[in-house]
Amino acid sequence: MGQTHGHHVLVTGGAGYIGSHSAVALHEAGHHPILLDNLSNSTPDAVEGVRELCGRDIPFHTLDCSDFDGLKSLFQHQVDVGQPIQGVLHFAAFKAVGESVAKPALYAANNVGGLGVLLQVMAEFGVEAMVFSSSCTVYGEPNKVPVDEGAPMQHAESPYGWTKQACERVLTDHASSREGAKIALLRYFNPVGAHPSGVIGELPLGVPNNLVPFLTQTVAGIRPALTVFGDDYDTPDGTCIRDYLHVMDLAEAHVAALNWCLSQSKDKVRAFNLGTGTGASVLEVIHSFERATGLSVPHVIGPRRPGDVVAIWADPKRAHNELGWKASRTLDDAMTDAWNWQQRLGQPDNNAH
Ligand code: NAD
Ligand code: UFG
Repeated sequence: MGQTHGHHVLVTGGAGYIGSHSAVALHEAGHHPILLDNLSNSTPDAVEGVRELCGRDIPFHTLDCSDFDGLKSLFQHQVDVGQPIQGVLHFAAFKAVGESVAKPALYAANNVGGLGVLLQVMAEFGVEAMVFSSSCTVYGEPNKVPVDEGAPMQHAESPYGWTKQACERVLTDHASSREGAKIALLRYFNPVGAHPSGVIGELPLGVPNNLVPFLTQTVAGIRPALTVFGDDYDTPDGTCIRDYLHVMDLAEAHVAALNWCLSQSKDKVRAFNLGTGTGASVLEVIHSFERATGLSVPHVIGPRRPGDVVAIWADPKRAHNELGWKASRTLDDAMTDAWNWQQRLGQPDNNAH
């Protein structure tokens, strides 16, 4: 990862799950994060958590990425105080697959429209480095695993998935339209876990859709049992396989990607898979949690969930070779940290929503 010269970095979606952890990693690497979030899926608590972990007053702006004038004022303010923004980590987006099916226009406007506005402001201020949150969902059901960055994009399964493909396209076109743009498209596999301190983590709203928050809420007694969505797939134990990545590894990958952007001598746009390179089945995740915490996970086998990819995991070699990044934490580490965070979070009613 290497020590850096301390760049001023805008973190959109900085109060969110991955943005907050990445802000801490940026600070630890010597950069100066500036957080921006409209708090549509987060609370100021996460910002306080970031400040606590960084031990200083990290700037935070309640702002929407579609607010052209608001963004311009922020970029101008940074110029005025002699701390111009030099790069952007762009996390801000809506991410609920099911909701995107019900509200495709909202997802297009927020995810693709927000990126468009942000890129225009960046261009006005000559800011070229962007690290973008993409997803392995762009690959759909892969023809072979592990999947590398050369794998073809499939027809998007959901409007959410389409927004990630569309944003990658917008960024690729943006890079070819101007000299100097340096863009890393980070295709995350499945981020899980929390900061080991338990100070920041994932804040699921309502009933979680994702495996790990549902699992930890079940063990906490908030849900009666975890339903395993199908055990009759063509996999060794019949359950679906994913590449679960500790969120702190993912956070550190953003620092590596930013440093990569800032060190490019000419314009460049490049996709990187971020995963461990190893797949784990749903049952293996349950066993990992039980091994890591000594607690048992009440679970039942249910029907398949429509639209689920059967098995996908990353070939992360490019990120290793070109960014110098490799996941170092285990699934058991992620389970320990997810449980620690769940205990701190308590009942969902305690969440300020
Ligand atoms: P999150 O919802 O916790 O964080 C996103 C943050 O962006 C939230 O705090 C939300 O309030 C904010 N936001 C949304 N729209 C905004 C806007 N227009 N202006 C300002 N702020 C806005 O989600 P996350 O899990 O941290 O995901 C971050 C990024 O990573 C997203 O782009 C998501 O699509 C992508 N991603 C996430 C996963 C995952 O499993 N968590 C997987 C692949 C990709
Ligand atoms: N699962 C269960 N029970 C649950 C929840 C999930 O068995 O209660 C299973 C799913 O069937 C799947 C695995 O656990 O096999 C992981 O499911 P998640 O919902 O946690 O994650 P997905 O891989 O389905 O989707 C995630 C994000 C999407 C994103 C996708 C690819 O939620 O937003 O990764 O990046 F598009």
